Amino acid sequence: MVGKPERNKQRWSLTRPVFLIGFMGAGKSSVARRLARLCKISSLDLDTYIERSCERKISEVFADDGEATFREMEARALREVAAMQEPMVVSCGGGIVTTDEAMAALKELGHAVLLEVDVDEAASRISDRSSRPLFQDLEAARQLCEARSARYHEAAASVVDTRGKDIFTVTCEVRDALEKEGILCRRPL
Ligand code: S3P
Repeated sequence: MVGKPERNKQRWSLTRPVFLIGFMGAGKSSVARRLARLCKISSLDLDTYIERSCERKISEVFADDGEATFREMEARALREVAAMQEPMVVSCGGGIVTTDEAMAALKELGHAVLLEVDVDEAASRISDRSSRPLFQDLEAARQLCEARSARYHEAAASVVDTRGKDIFTVTCEVRDALEKEGILCRRPL
């Protein structure tokens, strides 16, 4: 008798790119990596992709060329990764929603999942704030997060609340939301 394949022995695939969005410290990069490992799909971190493309750290781009130049690079990078042949889980920088160009790409070229976070919790999750030019001061970060909130929700096709949850729990919730939306599909081995 041929039994039902166990859940963890299955291969999954994405029908479109998935963009993890949300404020700094929401866990986007960790969740993307965990989800990729769990479902045997590919993931990519947009900040790392940009750093490799321009051979500079994000903090250097901010310091040398300013935020506006970084945002142009970010929107361009988003379109490039969305056009890659194999749809991937892409963890985006927290400010991806600040330009109209990137907003349009988030809505048109894939499925954006918002990881909601509390700024105090986000601060405790970030080990190295020096690499994040826009998360130097807690009060300023709180205001920035609040100012972006409407745009995060406008871009998001799914929302997962990360407050008080560990990375594995959030990853499973993202996986379940994507499966329900028909973005993540099971393929028996
Ligand atoms: C930014 C978030 C950072 C990085 C850059 C700007 C932001 O990414 O893109 O420092 O404007 O919120 P993470 O959200 O991965 O920290």
